[in-house]
Amino acid sequence: MARVVVVFESRYGNTKRVAESIIDGINGVGGVEVSLKELKEVDFKGIPSYDAILIGSPNHFGGPTRDIRGFIDKLSELTLEGKKFAVFDTYMGKDFEKAVKKMEKRISEKALGLKRLASGLSIKVQGMKGPIVEGELSKCKEFGKKIAIQLKEG
Ligand SMILES: Cc1cc2nc3c(=O)[nH]c(=O)nc-3n(C[C@H](O)[C@H](O)[C@H](O)COP(=O)(O)O)c2cc1C
Repeated sequence: MARVVVVFESRYGNTKRVAESIIDGINGVGGVEVSLKELKEVDFKGIPSYDAILIGSPNHFGGPTRDIRGFIDKLSELTLEGKKFAVFDTYMGKDFEKAVKKMEKRISEKALGLKRLASGLSIKVQGMKGPIVEGELSKCKEFGKKIAIQLKEG
């Protein structure tokens, strides 16, 4: 069975909520084992045991958080040949897809060998602390479904 780890940071809980909805979508397809890990609690050396890694960050100052940037940079220490990835962000204003694009670029530069499963998901929140804008959570489920199908197809 394909194994996925979802690694995220979330100051106010919105990005965590997105992660949980993505997981709902993955579990709806079935046949994929998925774990949810806050960045601080990730067993870094264990990452290569997964087939795919999903990375989620709130948009802080136009890009992913500093710790998520550091995490991506550290992925260069692992052998991830043949593994897959996808990213997601939450943003507030006009910064649609800004953090996901930056994460994708950084991953392509630092985590050589990781292949993108799907184009990054960017979810709008109403204010600094949320909540998530209505209708956005269904996009997360769809995203999860797409990821699971891609993984099952190999
Ligand atoms: C320090 C800080 C900087 C932020 N900068 C931006 C920004 O440049 N653009 C933007 O759209 N949202 C910005 N936000 C809003 C966050 O994107 C929003 O708080 C986040 O999506 C909420 O997710 P969370 O509940 O997972 O922390 C910022 C929030 C914080 C706390």
